[in-house]
Amino acid sequence: MKNILLGVSGGIAAYKSVELCRRLQDNGFHVRVVMTKAATEFVTPLTFQAISGHPVHTELFDPAAEAAMGHIELARWADLLLIAPATANTIAKLALGLSDDLLTTLVTATAAPVAIAPAMNQQMWKAPTTEQHLSVLRQRGVQIIGPAAGAQACGDVGFGRMLEPLEIVDYVLYPAQDTLQGQHWVITAGPTREQIDPVRFLSNNSSGKMGFALAKAAARLGAKVTLVSGPVSLEAPPAVNLIKVKSAQDMLDSVMEHISDARVFIGCAAVADYRPAEFIAQKIKKNTQELHVDFVKNPDILQTVAELKQRPFCVGFAAETQKLEHYAKDKLKRKNLDMICANNVANGKIGFDSDENAVTVFFKNDRTEVLQQCCKHKIASQLVYLIQKNLG
Ligand SMILES: Cc1cc2nc3c(=O)[nH]c(=O)nc-3n(C[C@H](O)[C@H](O)[C@H](O)COP(=O)(O)O)c2cc1C
Repeated sequence: MKNILLGVSGGIAAYKSVELCRRLQDNGFHVRVVMTKAATEFVTPLTFQAISGHPVHTELFDPAAEAAMGHIELARWADLLLIAPATANTIAKLALGLSDDLLTTLVTATAAPVAIAPAMNQQMWKAPTTEQHLSVLRQRGVQIIGPAAGAQACGDVGFGRMLEPLEIVDYVLYPAQDTLQGQHWVITAGPTREQIDPVRFLSNNSSGKMGFALAKAAARLGAKVTLVSGPVSLEAPPAVNLIKVKSAQDMLDSVMEHISDARVFIGCAAVADYRPAEFIAQKIKKNTQELHVDFVKNPDILQTVAELKQRPFCVGFAAETQKLEHYAKDKLKRKNLDMICANNVANGKIGFDSDENAVTVFFKNDRTEVLQQCCKHKIASQLVYLIQKNLG
């Protein structure tokens, strides 16, 4: 697929589509932009023209445009018609097949697949009309990308926020299919928190972003996903069963509760190797010059799962600051894993608490795959694809 017709409708998220246009181009797509009249109230066509390098189409009845690249020609040119943001109004018009402006006419006139990234206030997203229209579009094969939950421009909090441009690019590169339908994936994410006293704990820098991205990517392909996460500040991805835990022991208990029918287990959490030997019931007072805390080893969640008689396909992560390949391969063998994703966290720029990652994947059968540095969403999609390919 090469040609993307980017439709921009009149929502506040239209500004994000300028970035989306750029990112699509970065990924080798040719992009032409069509804007609704309302969209031009938010971002000027000139901005999109400068970024896309092509005139922006806004009018259905435009003799000059028809003489150059008419609406039917545009509809034929597209390999994908991507509408981002898709307003409640445009979604409603699409569901009804209305064609009263250039964008909606193009949707009716194109044979190309259509994908929409809805963006609207959370109350508009919850409206029964929006739900009905989306259901019609889904049945018609339109891919619905997002939305995400979170703080909105209007001050509300909830579902309706357009996905970030790189996440949308990810959906375009790896269109949703139900290839994992019927499979249960259990994924751990984030740090664990090992309490020393009621107010202090031992933890690490893991943000949970990689594990959450993996859960989202697997759910998008139809897997039933149980995500067991330590304390992080991330929203549950759509259609994912998020279980919040604190300590390594809690995480193990929760994993074991859900693992029996799992086809895949991904140990992505940065589980603390040690915990304080005893929990001090009252806050430790500052009345000695030195403080010694004894630590004992935590249970190894990945190994426990890999040792099960009926074990799922086991995937580990190794974050190392040195001898990456050596330590990763050792962990793969020692814990009897099927696959290990190794990342070098020495420079502090990728991996832990970052939006980007670069991963080298080592397999049981000595094969290696290198995933170049990019956003965690893309890495997650690539990893889910690799796991799927190796399930047998
Ligand atoms: C400041 C402002 C922000 C808006 N943001 C959104 C939005 O995020 N999503 C949405 O569905 N409508 C939003 N609207 C309403 C749409 O602009 C309106 O429904 C318009 O008719 C959409 O036209 P279109 O679908 O042809 O682009 C907003 C309106 C205003 C005034």
